[in-house]
Amino acid sequence: MKILQLKNYDLLSAKAAEMVQIEIAKKPNLILGLPTGSTPLGMYAKLVELSAAKEVDFSEVRTYNLDEYYPIKRSHPQSYHTFMFENFFTKVNINPYNIHILNGEAPDSITECKNYEAGLLKTGYADLMVLGVGANGHIGFNEPGDFSTSTHVAELSLDTRSKNARFFDSITEVPLTALTMGLGSILKSKMILVLISGEVKEPVLKALLSGKLNPKIPATYLLLHRDVVVLTDIKIGK
Ligand code: F6R
Repeated sequence: MKILQLKNYDLLSAKAAEMVQIEIAKKPNLILGLPTGSTPLGMYAKLVELSAAKEVDFSEVRTYNLDEYYPIKRSHPQSYHTFMFENFFTKVNINPYNIHILNGEAPDSITECKNYEAGLLKTGYADLMVLGVGANGHIGFNEPGDFSTSTHVAELSLDTRSKNARFFDSITEVPLTALTMGLGSILKSKMILVLISGEVKEPVLKALLSGKLNPKIPATYLLLHRDVVVLTDIKIGK
C-alpha cells in the first residue's frame, strides 16, 4: 500500500483526477469503480474540468458505482443515482449505456445484487476502483463486521445513518439498508485508489499505517491488495 500525503483537499482532488486521467489514457475503455460522498466531490469537479478541456475522454469508459441506498427512488434527491448524475455523469462525455449503478427501486434486492455481481464478473471487475472511507472505517456500505465477498444487501449502522442524516430531512428518512459491492468485489479490482480527507478519518489512516487487519475497521482489509494507493490530506506522524 502506497500512502501519499497531499497538502490540502484541493491537491488531493487534483491528484485523484490525474490518476484517473492517466489510467483512461492507458486504457480508453477502463472499468472505473466509483464512490459517492463528500470526499470525491473535488475529484469529480476536476475530472469535469479536464473533460471540458478535452484532456480526458470518457466516451468508452465503463463505470460501476459502489453502492446505493435501498429502497430509494432513483429520482430521490439523496439517491446515489441522483448524486452521480448531478455531480458527474451529465457533465462529461460518458455513454449512458456504460453507466452501472445498483437499482434502489429493484423489486427484489437479492436478485439485483446477484445481477450486479454477475455484471462485474463478466467485465473482469474494476481496473481502477476509487473509494472513500467512513469515519468508522466502512468502505462502500461494508460496515464493521461485514465481510461479504460479493454484492449484497447491507444493514446500515446507526453511526452511518446518523452521519448521513445531514443530507435527509431527519434520521428516520435515511434508509435502513443499502446495496453494496462486498469487500470481495472491491478486492478483485486491479488497482484501488483510496481518498481519505479530514481529521475525523485519522483513526482509519492510522489503522492502515499500522499494517494490521482490524475486523472493526473494514478499510484495513485493503491491506490484502497488492496495488492500493491512498491519497490523504491528513498530516501523518503528528
Ligand atoms: C459512498 C461510499 C461510502 C463513503 C463514506 C465516506 O459511495 O462508498 O463508503 O465513501 O461514507 O463518505 P464521505 O466522503 O461523505 O465522508
